[in-house]
Amino acid sequence: MTASELYRRALQVIPGGVNSPVRAMKAVGLEEPIFAARGEGAYLEDAEGRRYVDWVLSWGPLIFGHADPETVEAVVAAAREGTTFGTPTEREVELAEEIVAAVPSVEMVRLVSSGTEAAMTALRLARAATGREPFVRFAGGYHGHADPFLSEAGSGVKTLGIEAGGEGRVVPYNDLEAVERVIEGAACVFVEPVAGNMGVVPPADGFLEGLRRLCDETGTLLVFDEVITGFRIARGGAQERFGVLPDLTVLGKIVGGGLPLAAFGGRAELMERLAPAGDVYQAGTLSGNPLATAAGLSVLRRLTPEVYEELERKGRRLDALAAYGRFERVGAMASLFVDDYPALFRHLLERGIYVAPSQNEAMFLSTAHGEVEIDALIAAVEEFSA
Ligand SMILES: Cc1ncc(COP(=O)(O)O)c(C=O)c1O
Repeated sequence: MTASELYRRALQVIPGGVNSPVRAMKAVGLEEPIFAARGEGAYLEDAEGRRYVDWVLSWGPLIFGHADPETVEAVVAAAREGTTFGTPTEREVELAEEIVAAVPSVEMVRLVSSGTEAAMTALRLARAATGREPFVRFAGGYHGHADPFLSEAGSGVKTLGIEAGGEGRVVPYNDLEAVERVIEGAACVFVEPVAGNMGVVPPADGFLEGLRRLCDETGTLLVFDEVITGFRIARGGAQERFGVLPDLTVLGKIVGGGLPLAAFGGRAELMERLAPAGDVYQAGTLSGNPLATAAGLSVLRRLTPEVYEELERKGRRLDALAAYGRFERVGAMASLFVDDYPALFRHLLERGIYVAPSQNEAMFLSTAHGEVEIDALIAAVEEFSA
């Protein structure tokens, strides 16, 4: 079945034909999205059998590439034992231990099913712990689609130009003075420690340290949304890489090994405010799902220092893209900003290279991307720029 036929059917039964707005490709001038059939390593194959080098990687989770054999094996073995129980399992404890060991500020963690849920609950917890309602966040940041986070958000909200209601005192990223003006009385500062939803924007020197200081001075909690950066730019995420510890951390994507799993964690005394230990309610039928914990564990246990050295080496090769536009990279996440991004997107797609259909989304490296794939991207961008 062709993508056009599938899309026509999808439009009849799914709003806009997609289950997440960022999958639509109208913003880059394409009528229909890519319908994926299968993936292997760095490659994605669409419903019509076309193969692409995939720089989207399901928007970040696949650090070992598509259909990583060990992950698949772990999920299949787990599925044979039952797909959900709604009662605690050993792997949940193991995954929580793995996360606590990896992420410097996290002493206790709760597993949920999506980054949206994790961020939403981290905000609820911060509000309960401080007894304050307002909070500070940054324009162009994205913390999932819970109501408080939507106004001036990045990612698909920005790509589609949607202006939704939201809460929070929204200030420009990397602007400490603006934070200082609005932080008094806030429950928390919610921040992507490396912005990844307005393209990649690294934190300015001293920005994260400044946030930590302002939070300490005002009794405000610092929340790092490490849904993208967690296990990607270092095993312990941005907090390890930059040496600044938040009070609460939101995780997603890689932590679930490509299955629906996310998490939030922090100091024990804060986390124990959550029910049933405390009075802040949060729950989930599929939280800590056995297939997702199997995938997450399989991936996290293999994320050794050598993996990050390899990703950094490959990242440095990718830095050649800086010759063709503003290029930003932190570890295995990167963005190339060019004037006519839609034209670049189509140029690459015609050459079998799939990058995100919006400049607001990052490019992701996996261990499955080799020199061949990296050089092909650089050559195609060079050809575009010529
Ligand atoms: C930084 C950040 N936070 C939260 C989310 C929401 O996660 P999910 O899509 O799993 O709900 C995303 C999704 O891309 C994200 O990039």
